[in-house]
Amino acid sequence: GKLTQEELKRVAAHRAVELVETGMTLGLGTGSTAAHALDRLGELLVSGALAGVAGVPTSLKTEAHATRVGIPLLELAGAGRIHLSIDGADEVDPDLNLVKGRGGSLLREKMIEGSGDRFVVIVDESKLVPRLGCTGAVPVEVVPFGAVHTLGLVRKVFDGFPGFSARLRTVPAKAAGAEEAPFVTDNGNYIVEMFFEDGIRGDLRDISDRLLRITGVVEHGMFLGMATTVIVAKKDGTVEIIN
Ligand code: A5P
Repeated sequence: GKLTQEELKRVAAHRAVELVETGMTLGLGTGSTAAHALDRLGELLVSGALAGVAGVPTSLKTEAHATRVGIPLLELAGAGRIHLSIDGADEVDPDLNLVKGRGGSLLREKMIEGSGDRFVVIVDESKLVPRLGCTGAVPVEVVPFGAVHTLGLVRKVFDGFPGFSARLRTVPAKAAGAEEAPFVTDNGNYIVEMFFEDGIRGDLRDISDRLLRITGVVEHGMFLGMATTVIVAKKDGTVEIIN
């Protein structure tokens, strides 16, 4: 029978974990797909099939999960060389550019995955898109001070882009009648969500540079030229490995 999306995520994750070798330092991703990789790594470490592996977690959630399943952890500063990072993505374009961070962890992900030797992305085929920004928000992490001002500056980058909109990400109010609160990242920052009706048509590098030049923007969720391999689990049961 057809595999469920959850099973596809697990298939891709397990394929990535096959790349892990004794003695490696790993970047540990965040999200529902990366969670399968953490579980698998934990199993292999507990059974003794793998040894001497340690990871640098890309979020507080992943830190807790990795600890629970028995993966030894390192801090980025003390980790030395990161041999391999494994993480999911929200979108993958034909050039292996990614949208990440719909879970809110883009800053630590980019710091860790951008400083390793290999970055292996694990997805089910629903994540493959013709253009970034096709299926939902492209997140931008901003400092809380002046966040609405910074939101205005982000909007100016996309002046004249048809169908563009942006807003601050919020979490539902805790009590009836209470106001929505801003979503707060692991780093104590806020998230601006950018929406594109039909994906981003334009020079992604240029857009990236313009966003990063805004004082108040910390980082954005476009991961350009960072993925070295994408492992795609497909509904027909096959796995495609794109390098
Ligand atoms: C976390 O902030 C994200 O970058 C995730 O890596 C991404 O959202 C993929 O998550 P799923 O595997 O849950 O789709």
